[in-house]
Amino acid sequence: MIVTVTPNPSLDRTYEVPSLDRGEVVRATGERMDPGGKGVNVSRAVAAAGRRTVAVLPLGGAPGALVAELLAAQGIEVAPVPVAGTTRSNIALAEADGVLTKVNAPGPELGPEERELLLQTVRRQAHGADWIACCGSLPRGLAPSWYADLVARAHVAGVRIALDTSGPALLAALREGPDVVKPNAEELAEAVGRPLATVGDALKAADDLRSLGAGAVLASLGADGQLLVTGAGAWYGGAPVAAVRSNVGAGDASLAGFLIAGGAGPEALASAVAHGAAAVQLPGSVMPTPADLSPAAVTVTADVPLDRPLTDPAP
Ligand SMILES: Nc1ncnc2c1ncn2[C@@H]1O[C@H](COP(=O)(O)OP(=O)(O)OP(=O)(O)O)[C@@H](O)[C@H]1O
Ligand SMILES: [Mg+2]
Repeated sequence: MIVTVTPNPSLDRTYEVPSLDRGEVVRATGERMDPGGKGVNVSRAVAAAGRRTVAVLPLGGAPGALVAELLAAQGIEVAPVPVAGTTRSNIALAEADGVLTKVNAPGPELGPEERELLLQTVRRQAHGADWIACCGSLPRGLAPSWYADLVARAHVAGVRIALDTSGPALLAALREGPDVVKPNAEELAEAVGRPLATVGDALKAADDLRSLGAGAVLASLGADGQLLVTGAGAWYGGAPVAAVRSNVGAGDASLAGFLIAGGAGPEALASAVAHGAAAVQLPGSVMPTPADLSPAAVTVTADVPLDRPLTDPAP
């Protein structure tokens, strides 16, 4: 069982528009609503794999109720934490030529009692869980050390923790030794304060995150695949992708793939890569099912191609 924690979930509203014209009325030709948030995506991918998951979410107001309803309709168990504020609505404008413009709201501020209730809910749900996956940015009201606290509490309860966040929240949590962190290239570069131009640069940066406390680093490098660095060694994995339809949520699908395959070693990396490659070939943030995966197309090697330049170097 995999518990996910999304401290700042959203109701994602996507409008299809012919094209954007600033200052004009734009008529949508289609609209859809999805439950949003990185931990929500991980839960959707875990559920798509037929595995049990519970999504812990602070939810408030009508948008919060809708998020819970949409997840229930997809068969995903939710452990809601009622909050006084209103869950944010994020707006995406999808133009006919494929350009996506997003407006993300900050979301409600959590008060002291809500913060405590969130931690208590995670603790209750974590009983008997294999992993807690903590994903995304922190809402106002949660200190950058909030994930660090959660890692410490999870370890006291004997549950492993995977963390996908960035900036000060990531750096603070490293000190508590999260079992795995999943930065993308940009987040990894930011964490070490150095640009990444090659896979070797990413490997060095991942080593640095391990020195700062991470048990393992699963670095997703976009079109250049993924790198897993643990105490037992380092592996590099990739899979060819014929055509990218949407990379939204590909990192979340990868983390889910890694955790459902045990969350350690080259087999878990192969599953992460298979999920990432499948996710980018699906529209929007649709998460892959087992039928979408091509595990035979994945290659994993301990011979990390250090000199391989990154397609998208991280500044
Ligand atoms: N252009 C691409 N071509 C092939 N595979 C890709 C591409 N983009 C992403 N992937 C696959 O998906 C994985 C995750 O992508 P990425 O590193 O962009 O994650 P991310 O930035 O964390 O995404 P998100 O946070 O939106 O979920 C990659 O490691 C790779 O396996
Ligand atoms: Mg990501």
